[in-house]
Amino acid sequence: MSAACLVSPMMAAPPEDHDARMAWWREARFGMFVHWGLYSGLAGTWDDEPVAGAAEWLQNTVGADAHEYARAAIPKFVPKEGFARDWARLAKEAGCKYVVFTTKHHDGFALHDSGVTTYDAGDLLNRDLVREITDALRAEGLRIGFYHSVIDWQHPQYDFEAALELPYPRRGRLLNPGVRNHSRYIDFLHTQARELLGNYGQVDIVWWDYSSTKFQGAEAWRAEDLLAMARGLQPAIISNNRLYRTPEAGWKGMGTDGFTMQLDTRFGDFITPEQHIPATGMPGVDFEVCMTMNRTWGFSEHDKDWKSTEILIRNLIDIASKGGNYLLNIGPLGDGSVPEASITRMREMGAWLEKYGEAIYGTTASPFEEVPYDGRVTRKGGDLFLHLFAAPESGVIELPDTAASRARWLCSGKEIQRDSRGGSL
Ligand code: GLC
Repeated sequence: MSAACLVSPMMAAPPEDHDARMAWWREARFGMFVHWGLYSGLAGTWDDEPVAGAAEWLQNTVGADAHEYARAAIPKFVPKEGFARDWARLAKEAGCKYVVFTTKHHDGFALHDSGVTTYDAGDLLNRDLVREITDALRAEGLRIGFYHSVIDWQHPQYDFEAALELPYPRRGRLLNPGVRNHSRYIDFLHTQARELLGNYGQVDIVWWDYSSTKFQGAEAWRAEDLLAMARGLQPAIISNNRLYRTPEAGWKGMGTDGFTMQLDTRFGDFITPEQHIPATGMPGVDFEVCMTMNRTWGFSEHDKDWKSTEILIRNLIDIASKGGNYLLNIGPLGDGSVPEASITRMREMGAWLEKYGEAIYGTTASPFEEVPYDGRVTRKGGDLFLHLFAAPESGVIELPDTAASRARWLCSGKEIQRDSRGGSL
């Protein structure tokens, strides 16, 4: 356990700052998500049996109490030296501009060296994994995001009875069977957030996870103070909308695919469609689609259901054409190494972006609702980028009605002649 550094929050940055703080993120369009923690070594297996569902939820799925879970998971969580450098290089090679990684997931295990718990990497491994990761990301020039779970399956004061609609592994022996004082848990949550946002240099994104319609915001997390503190410590930081679950914060309900198409930026800077690409863009609302490459966020040795690189690239294009960002997940193993299938896909995406990145980075949403061919459009100022998912059988690409005067292939640079019908190439 190390001493926490105390930094007094200044005034919260006013939400009018929103556009300025979001500028780099809107250019970035592509980020890497990393789910990695105690669950990673368990690899989706409990008592030699495969566990269904997301591997980072294993403790909840099997209903293990924190002791039982930790006893099984700790020996299997053995980060190898240099793992963070490999992640950072992979993100860079993939063409990602930022990396958001789990500083603490729902199981409550902190990857940093926290002053307020012994359930952390500092005590367990005598290492500060958040330091290792942030150093490595910075060395590659990547922006840094902290995923931080506000749900906590380990803290003895986290009031799971009050946290309606939020999961909790109830079957085992509770760390604290008595009455819980959730306010003390909130103090702990705020202290850990202060440690994370105060002690690791510039942090660009804070990615909270998550609230329910019945337990959110002020009551659940003293959210306004938490955001004010985050913005005080990191004036340029942007935050997702998951400390809240209200229509003003973008949410329709408990689904991660239903949004109100509005976001009051007091509650966060962007919304977070999960495993789902919205059908249309949302004028005035920034969104980031987070997705797995297979089915689970944390590593599971049983999940081999990988999306093809082609699908991943199409997703990136589709999202960019709607004005959003793609946050694509990897789930490293207990030793920090990245599954080969993820490495291959990330590298292939990087090779594609190397060629066509101009049509993704810094682009904005398509000005058209539809295009008369199988593909999408992205835009940069007066330029339109036409992405073709398939060559049209006729050999003619019908163009949406535009006043474009010149066209060229992005791959070869060759000019394309417009034909006499004006709208096609
Ligand atoms: C959900 C899940 C979680 C995952 C996250 C990513 O909230 O609880 O396991 O981390 O979504 O968006």
